[in-house]
Amino acid sequence: MMRIGMLTSGGDCQSLNATMRGVAKALYRMFDNIEIIGFEDGYKGLIYTDYRIMRPEEFSGILTKGGTILGTSRQPFKLMRTPDANGLDKVEAMKHTYKKLKLECLVVLGGNGSQKTANLLREEGLNVVSLPKTIDNDLWGTDMTFGFESAMNVATNAIDCIHTTAASHGRVFIVEVMGHKVGWLTLYAGIAGGADIILLPEIPYDLDIVIEALKTRTKNGKKFSIIAVAEGAISKENAALSKKELKEKKKSGVVYPSVAYEIGAMITERTGQEVRVTVPGHMQRGGDPCPFDRVLSTRLGAEAALLIKNKEYGNMVAVQNNDIVKMPLSEVAGKLKTVDPQCSIVKEAKMIGISFGDE
Ligand code: F6P
Repeated sequence: MMRIGMLTSGGDCQSLNATMRGVAKALYRMFDNIEIIGFEDGYKGLIYTDYRIMRPEEFSGILTKGGTILGTSRQPFKLMRTPDANGLDKVEAMKHTYKKLKLECLVVLGGNGSQKTANLLREEGLNVVSLPKTIDNDLWGTDMTFGFESAMNVATNAIDCIHTTAASHGRVFIVEVMGHKVGWLTLYAGIAGGADIILLPEIPYDLDIVIEALKTRTKNGKKFSIIAVAEGAISKENAALSKKELKEKKKSGVVYPSVAYEIGAMITERTGQEVRVTVPGHMQRGGDPCPFDRVLSTRLGAEAALLIKNKEYGNMVAVQNNDIVKMPLSEVAGKLKTVDPQCSIVKEAKMIGISFGDE
């Protein structure tokens, strides 16, 4: 009997179940005698030996279901080497669970932090195969992560809904899209939703330029404007500060619920224009996976099973030029795929008049 462990880790997304289904269905077909152990709530289940033996039927009927049948949690990588409240060594505990259950391999569905922990476990001698999950699409080594397209649909839909009300009232609307460190989701949803201004963490904005763009729209007879703002959008001024200086500055100023409110307040103060803020928040991770993600998840899942069959451990399955390839975890872990301010999609958006608040 071969035993494979599986867990979903970090923030959830729409296509986790579809991906697990892909892995499991392919594994059950490849091996006559195989058991999948599902760990509850991500690495937490592996640390505290909280698991269940999965029945093959559990992987049926979940292709179209959002969330994760295994549950998930955030177990920050930076705290992995820090003992828990009871002094438990988490890394040793995970190794212990793996060995106790006589696992052949651990399958990890996760984003950046989870891939780092997967790599740490690989370094500790465990067989690991991982799959790229995140609505942020910021995993290095893969063109696409599952969850991104589905979240883009939700975020775009939010901007679409705002469009009609914005046009009726002639206001400035700000839609805040998820993404603290990277702006892929905001960039794509912003373009897809026809936002007039897109503000990303990778392209620090100048408020004067944002205001100029709004004024130009008004001058051109446009009654309303829509700004798509990433959670991590930052002004040029703040980007020039050190982390410590920025923290101090924020402590001494007005505290806003999020960046969209802060930008909104500044626009009203400077222009007198009415501004409304919409934050779709976790809706972006919710609901069902879109067809694109279902296909991507199925492909990634099947190829992850193949890696296990071929004992090609220590890899993450990835998309490159529409092919599914394997990327060594040692190369993937700890690197972010950010939006290059000079990339063609940003240039093309600028060519049609979208402002990024930078020039
Ligand atoms: O990494 C996925 C993500 O949804 C980010 O886009 C967002 O900034 C963050 O997670 C939110 O995290 P949490 O669900 O822990 O609030």
